[in-house]
Amino acid sequence: MSNKKVILSAKDISVEFQVRNRTLRAIRNISVDLHEGETLALVGESGSGKSVFTKVFTGMLEANGSVATGAVTYGDMNLTDLKTNAEWEKIRGSQISTVFQDPMTSLNPIKTIGSQISETVIKHQGKTAEEAKAIAIDLMNRVGIPEAEKRYDEYPFQYSGGMRQRIVIAIALSSRPKVLICDEPTTALDVTIQAQIIALLKELKEEYGFAMIFITHDLGVVASIADKVAVMYSGEIIEYGTVEDIFYDSRHPYTWALLSSLPQLATTEKLYSIAGTPPSLYSEIKGDAFAPRNPKPMAIDFVESPPKFPVSETHWAKTWLLDERAPELTKPEGIQDLHAKMVKIYAKEGGA
Ligand SMILES: Nc1ncnc2c1ncn2[C@@H]1O[C@H](COP(=O)(O)OP(=O)(O)OP(=O)(O)O)[C@@H](O)[C@H]1O
Ligand SMILES: [Mg+2]
Repeated sequence: MSNKKVILSAKDISVEFQVRNRTLRAIRNISVDLHEGETLALVGESGSGKSVFTKVFTGMLEANGSVATGAVTYGDMNLTDLKTNAEWEKIRGSQISTVFQDPMTSLNPIKTIGSQISETVIKHQGKTAEEAKAIAIDLMNRVGIPEAEKRYDEYPFQYSGGMRQRIVIAIALSSRPKVLICDEPTTALDVTIQAQIIALLKELKEEYGFAMIFITHDLGVVASIADKVAVMYSGEIIEYGTVEDIFYDSRHPYTWALLSSLPQLATTEKLYSIAGTPPSLYSEIKGDAFAPRNPKPMAIDFVESPPKFPVSETHWAKTWLLDERAPELTKPEGIQDLHAKMVKIYAKEGGA
């Protein structure tokens, strides 16, 4: 895995929004690589910057936002140099596509499903209307629409939520993108449909070979779909590693807290939740942004921001706990033998 080529690379990215004469720093100096064919999951609480960060890759920041520092390399292009919509159109929706949470926002309610897929095929693959229709129906079959030929002429309102999301995925793939960004693509769907969409994305990834950035706050989904995981907190990636690194050998107390709140691990009816709130993004954050919520902070946590401490070749974490001067601290008991617990959970889910 690790010798695969880097397809998308963010270096020192910061994003700022102007809000009524004040500056909100939503992303703070993120550097991360996405490799060909791999799935990177972005996890973290609401407001941690998952959506904003990925919008940098498609030029979709709202008008009051801008990239304040850093660069994004895609192939031999620096995406942060792109200015006009015309320049972005060569990348967005063609090389890098996004699937959002609510399929209705991506579909035009007054156009047929088929025409919406065909249009993107004509735009990106330069096919005739007739060829595009055949490709569109083929795509509909591939994303699991029954009776695709008949349903080609139907409108979005005639489709269920899950079927609409399948169509959005078909449209996203119609340009044969190299990178697919999925921003909580199943959050609006009920649980059984969620599982079907996840299974579909895995299948399509095998077939088409795109790399994927998958945003979710559901760590259960992460375990089933991701190769790498980036844990975000207050606009930073605070821990990064393979799925195994993050689930079974995590080092950041925030990652511990996230893992502890896995609903599958709840031993009583009460779900674990992380006390406190993230810091304001309007003011300079001193030290480790998680320090005020850390149950066992150290003095340095309030003074200096921790660097990325390497844990292994595939794994790093931004926490002073990894400094050689830090006291020995063990993971919360609930997540200590997580491997055994996960195996049990999956055996149960699969079997029952
Ligand atoms: N256009 C905007 N103007 C001002 N602030 C913004 C804007 N867009 C996002 N933000 C702020 O940037 C921060 C990160 O937002 P973002 O949407 O990336 O969070 P998220 O991790 O995707 O959360 P969620 O899980 O709720 O989707 C938040 O504090 C948010 O309020
Ligand atoms: Mg979001």
